[in-house]
Amino acid sequence: KRVAVLISGRGSNMSALIEAAKNADFPAEIVAVIANKSDAGGLDAARAQGIQAYAIPNRDYASKQQHETAVSEALHAAKADIVCLAGYMRLLSPEFVREWEGKMLNIHPSLLPLFRGLHTHDQALEAGVRVHGCTVHFVTAGMDEGPIIAQTAVPVKTGDTADSLTERVLSVEHETYARALALVATGKAKMENGRTVFSD
Ligand code: GRF
Repeated sequence: KRVAVLISGRGSNMSALIEAAKNADFPAEIVAVIANKSDAGGLDAARAQGIQAYAIPNRDYASKQQHETAVSEALHAAKADIVCLAGYMRLLSPEFVREWEGKMLNIHPSLLPLFRGLHTHDQALEAGVRVHGCTVHFVTAGMDEGPIIAQTAVPVKTGDTADSLTERVLSVEHETYARALALVATGKAKMENGRTVFSD
């Protein structure tokens, strides 16, 4: 399967997917990286790996719809089968989400359905949970609401701060995202009627 990754920042998850896809057994290849910001650090990292990477800055477009049309055209030009959101900080319209339903993944730094939205590590500390983690899910119209594909838990330790939690969760995000993408690319995880259906 051909995979495009959408980013807004440093793209460490994107780099992890590129790294995983280098393995001959991996069922997907990363064919394009698109950022909505021209200064996204991940663009250079992707280019250094020989992957087509460029910005489609949302600020260059008069409306959200026009920007999404440009992104959509780029995804089709890249012949992408699957889209991975990796720290992509733009909410997508219901139309865009519908077009990629069952084929678009996102990684979120919490054990969903806990702590949707931003500042998940602060939310976790505030709630006092002793277990935290990350989730890869199919993207649906509701933010951070789609059916879950893979999760990894990490402990919350005494003295943890948002920074220490960020680091601990990020260290498991990379492997989790690659595992989830492989499940979807092989058809072992599929979205059906708003749920993830798994098969061997
Ligand atoms: C990750 O924590 C991801 O879960 C969240 O944004 C962050 C992106 O980091 N959605 P990176 O750009 O992949 O390094």
